[in-house]
Amino acid sequence: MNKAIEALLNDQIKFEANASMHYLAMASWADNAGYNGIAEFFYNQSEEERAHMLKLVKFVNERGGTVIVPELDKPKASYTSLHELFADFLKSEMFVTEQINHVIFECLNKKDYNVHNFMQWYVTEQLEEEAVARTLLDKLNIIGDDKSGHYMFDRDINTIATAVDVEE
Ligand code: FEO
Repeated sequence: MNKAIEALLNDQIKFEANASMHYLAMASWADNAGYNGIAEFFYNQSEEERAHMLKLVKFVNERGGTVIVPELDKPKASYTSLHELFADFLKSEMFVTEQINHVIFECLNKKDYNVHNFMQWYVTEQLEEEAVARTLLDKLNIIGDDKSGHYMFDRDINTIATAVDVEE
């Protein structure tokens, strides 16, 4: 495996792991704040990001590369509003998408078509995750500060997220 591509994949392992811990902290904050639906959503997101990380770890190992299990950033532990929580979620997904695009750009530069092909799964996954994050933030923008709206958002979030997934 090209060393520069291997380094980028190791960076991506860190980004996915960071996202997993970030979403775990979000789930925990929501759980404590009494938003059980939102907590469930982020516990699941955290698991998904861990799966994204593992897929990369296994791929790098299978291709004879060396995985560096990364030291992680300390995730933000508290939020002042649901809007802030979901704006951070979208920002995090957009960051990951940017990094994936960077890996793909470098794969083409270095003519590593195997890794390029492998990364297509992440492109599709990011499209879906960004769509979910945008939809949820849009809903919160409509709801504004309405407490009963927040109650319903928490109740319905997993249905809304699944519906976006199915549409994609
Ligand atoms: Fe695996 Fe949503 O980044």
